[in-house]
Amino acid sequence: MRKRIVGSSWKMHVNTKSAVDTLAKEILVGVKDVSNVDMFLIPTFPLIDHLANILRDSNVAWGAQNMAFVDYGAYTGEVPASTLADLGCTYIELGHAERRANFNETDHWINKKVKLCLDAGLTPLVCIGETKSEKEDGVGRVRIKTQILWTLEGVEMAEVSKVIFAYEPVWAIGQSEGADADYVNDMHRFIRNVIASEYGNNIAQAIRIIYGGSVKLDSAQDYISKENIDGLFIGRFALEAKNYIAIVDLVEKYVNEKEGL
Ligand code: PGA
Repeated sequence: MRKRIVGSSWKMHVNTKSAVDTLAKEILVGVKDVSNVDMFLIPTFPLIDHLANILRDSNVAWGAQNMAFVDYGAYTGEVPASTLADLGCTYIELGHAERRANFNETDHWINKKVKLCLDAGLTPLVCIGETKSEKEDGVGRVRIKTQILWTLEGVEMAEVSKVIFAYEPVWAIGQSEGADADYVNDMHRFIRNVIASEYGNNIAQAIRIIYGGSVKLDSAQDYISKENIDGLFIGRFALEAKNYIAIVDLVEKYVNEKEGL
């Protein structure tokens, strides 16, 4: 069974060392006994080291919200894979819809970043998803297929299953409700099928596909019981420690019941 993941990007919402202290320490207390769910928290770049000092030796990993598409040189303001690896990061979020929309992040750049991540021993967490107008025009799947092919182009066969996809339909981010769980499950099946046709069924079955977009506690229950949804990527709802802990608890309970533990 693919190990479930529950993670949160704090975007630019948790902006000081003291805010990181409060949130991370409360989360750690609440999840200290969790072993069957992978967990991660992603702060802004300058706060990674501070968060790492809190999470080190715990069961919660940390990561970054973006990364440079080259690893060295005259790229003012960018942060390379080697630095993020040195800071002990595990997950590197790439291609979030906000970066694609506001910072002109392209599929070509994301592909470069994915390969650099893997070379540095980091796990690329690649956000893909259709916009509202693509959905309405019936071309959402074409968009997603394109994003998958770009993401994995040139990635060594043995490395493909290390990539994690976060399906985040752009129209479901920052809303009062996320996408319907059956819709998400169908889309995840589609993503898995695209990977199967390119890389074979074993890799497609191994790769983890998580959902993000306005996840809350009640919807988390619906998502996690679907066969193709391997975890959740939570935004605003996880800015309160008790909410993140509640979702992790729910997912662990589901996994334990399913595995008869
Ligand atoms: P949201 O953010 O849960 O606040 O919609 C999710 C995301 O952008 O990953």
